[in-house]
Amino acid sequence: MTQDTSVDEIQSQALGALGAIDDIRKLDEWRVAYLGRSGRLTSVLRGLGALPPEARREVGQRANMVKSVLEKALEEKEEVLRQAELQRSIEGGKLDITLPGRRPNRGRLHPTTQVVREICDAFVAMGFQIVEGPEVEWDYYNFEALNIPKDHPARDMWDTIWIDPPSESEKPMLLRTHTSPMQIRVMEKTQPPVRVVVPGKVYRYEATDATHESQFYQVEGLAVDTNITFAELKGTLYEFARRIFGTERKVRFRCDYFPFVEPGVEMAIDCFACGGRGCRICSNSGWIEIMGAGMVHPEVLRHVNYDPEIYTGFAFGLGPERIAMLKYGIDDIRLFYSNDLRFLYQF
Ligand code: DAH
Repeated sequence: MTQDTSVDEIQSQALGALGAIDDIRKLDEWRVAYLGRSGRLTSVLRGLGALPPEARREVGQRANMVKSVLEKALEEKEEVLRQAELQRSIEGGKLDITLPGRRPNRGRLHPTTQVVREICDAFVAMGFQIVEGPEVEWDYYNFEALNIPKDHPARDMWDTIWIDPPSESEKPMLLRTHTSPMQIRVMEKTQPPVRVVVPGKVYRYEATDATHESQFYQVEGLAVDTNITFAELKGTLYEFARRIFGTERKVRFRCDYFPFVEPGVEMAIDCFACGGRGCRICSNSGWIEIMGAGMVHPEVLRHVNYDPEIYTGFAFGLGPERIAMLKYGIDDIRLFYSNDLRFLYQF
């Protein structure tokens, strides 16, 4: 019974001591003294083994009850002191609860990404699939299979960043200069009908200025099937232009040369800013060139074992940054990639 009394004594002493504490920082001292590993209650529990069995049970139960009483009391006291401290600091003016919280910055999509998606959406609505391909490419896909043989002067159209230049390797490697190599990769893997758009980054060995970057985006398009004519090319690209630049747009096709199409064209829209009268955006011509296109060259079809007597197709390639520059009146392509948030947050 003496042990039991001492357990009750410990409880009343502990609660008395706890009641006297008025500083939250002193609570831990109290916890160590009564509930800690060498605290008073713990010693009682440790000493249980030395008691006769009946006493052991009773004292043990009592001690455990006291333990939970003390733990609960500690918790409550802590809450009381915390509230009191908060109240004090509010009254003392240290904490201004009327100060609005800091708004976290919201991220958003890069303008190029937004335009790439808009372009792809327009073609997806017309039944095209989106595919992507490698940025490090073989000479074969970037040039050779696209009807641009080694040493052909047409290669000068693409200032190339070589990884493994032609002279040193049988299979030269490069950073793709356009997304057109994906035409070949898609056709190698599938049989017609093919309808794909290919968004992605391309690279040029080029000095940077207001209209040139050494890294930029392209969206390639390819449709191959039986009975595809220039009329399908025109219809598809016309619909695209109207979706992106407004339903009242007119389009103009003029002959152009790209080795992988025949005939090749450059497509322009009438200037959406001045309606064709002539202004700064269209350099007073009334027209804005927005992409290259053409009917897939039979030589290209032969490279992927498509029979050009059975299948025909059209292809096109456009630059999303250029589209964005036109749409939003941006006059320097370098703005897209200089990480200036004042620019980027406008989109
Ligand atoms: N690949 C060309 C370039 O980077 C753009 C292009 C023109 C793609 C005509 C085409 C096309 O598919 O038919 O300059």
